[in-house]
Amino acid sequence: MKTILITGGAGFIGSHVVRLFVTKYPEYTIVNLDKLTYAGNLENLRDVEGKPNYIFEKVDIVDAKEVDQLFNKYALDGIIHLAAESHVDRSIESPLEFIMTNVVGTVNLLNAAKDKWKNDFADKVFYHVSTDEVYGSLGETGFFTEATAYDPQSPYSASKASSDHFVRAYHNTYDLPIVISNCSNNYGSYQFPEKLIPLFINNIKNNKSLPVYGKGDYTRDWLFVEDHAAAIDEIYHKGKKGDTYNIGGFNEWKNIDLIKLLCSVMDRKLNREEGTSEKLITYVKDRPGHDKRYAIDASKINEELGWKPSLQFETGLEKTVDWYLSNDEWLKHVTSGEYLSYYKKQYEPA
Ligand code: NAD
Ligand code: TYD
Repeated sequence: MKTILITGGAGFIGSHVVRLFVTKYPEYTIVNLDKLTYAGNLENLRDVEGKPNYIFEKVDIVDAKEVDQLFNKYALDGIIHLAAESHVDRSIESPLEFIMTNVVGTVNLLNAAKDKWKNDFADKVFYHVSTDEVYGSLGETGFFTEATAYDPQSPYSASKASSDHFVRAYHNTYDLPIVISNCSNNYGSYQFPEKLIPLFINNIKNNKSLPVYGKGDYTRDWLFVEDHAAAIDEIYHKGKKGDTYNIGGFNEWKNIDLIKLLCSVMDRKLNREEGTSEKLITYVKDRPGHDKRYAIDASKINEELGWKPSLQFETGLEKTVDWYLSNDEWLKHVTSGEYLSYYKKQYEPA
């Protein structure tokens, strides 16, 4: 019997982690803490919300009092921390929100864990989920390893880098039993349609233009979200305390090549003539400070914990397209903001 707090469980990756833990470990109680920002949607968890081992708590991690109250309410054995502001373009518009949630929010959780666990850290875990973007940008060759120096370039990655440093500092200073993972770009179901793949699926479906930043020659390493959730499960249970694990897909794509592949999959699924969707591609002004290339060396997690991605990218992309095309209601709700009324109906009935 264990009680595990998952923060950001109503978001894209968090909802997959909550689903995996609630169903795979019926003996655990899973407390999902989420503020429900524009990116948090309880409709992502409809299939598990009725399970007896699942609890939802609407909490803002920036509010230290709310966080402390939650830690007093539950005897937590572990924390998997995913709550964050996560979109680079939004961080360029309003960096402060990123500092508040990603840095201050993380420190509030660290303080609560340290104080509540009162230095009795046996069998406790504070697992911080982070990104490969903390390492900055690669040239044409090379990979990020766990030893790569931090060199964040965007306000988003700077805030995540800062939170990683605080998590490590609490281990070094107070012996808090932490573990960190830095993962590459995720794709799959329930991703908010502001990130590249769901945005472009939605735009192609609606015959809207596809805004490719710069020349589209930036490279990302893509991982299917359920493979990330499986890696988180391995690291939570078997990761060495104080250690960092890089997680990646061994799957690099130049944006424009990925977009052309997506266009061709969409043409086939929508019974459109091959080449129809590609005509929607529009080259637009580049993102300021755009990182050229991310690529992860995931050999440590593979060798130590036996984890590797389970899906070929072409298969994962096809599954993802199928999911978005058959979940029209979900897409309509998140793009219209209608999902906010779901929380009211479900959790605050009149
Ligand atoms: P997301 O934006 O889809 O979800 C974030 C969740 O956090 C939302 O449910 C939101 O409501 C919640 N949240 C935001 N601010 C909060 C606050 N102040 N208090 C409580 N909850 C709050 O993000 P995601 O893509 O699922 O990413 C989850 C984590 O994984 C993040 O920490 C991100 O940095 C990391 N990550 C993401 C990717 C990726 O490709 N998406 C890759 C590597 C790492
Ligand atoms: P994104 O999904 O925002 O993830 P990240 O910036 O965290 O890697 O973007 C993935 C890549 O796609 C990135 O190089 C920026 C590019 N991009 C576009 O060209 N157009 C878009 O509309 C978006 C959202 C992203």
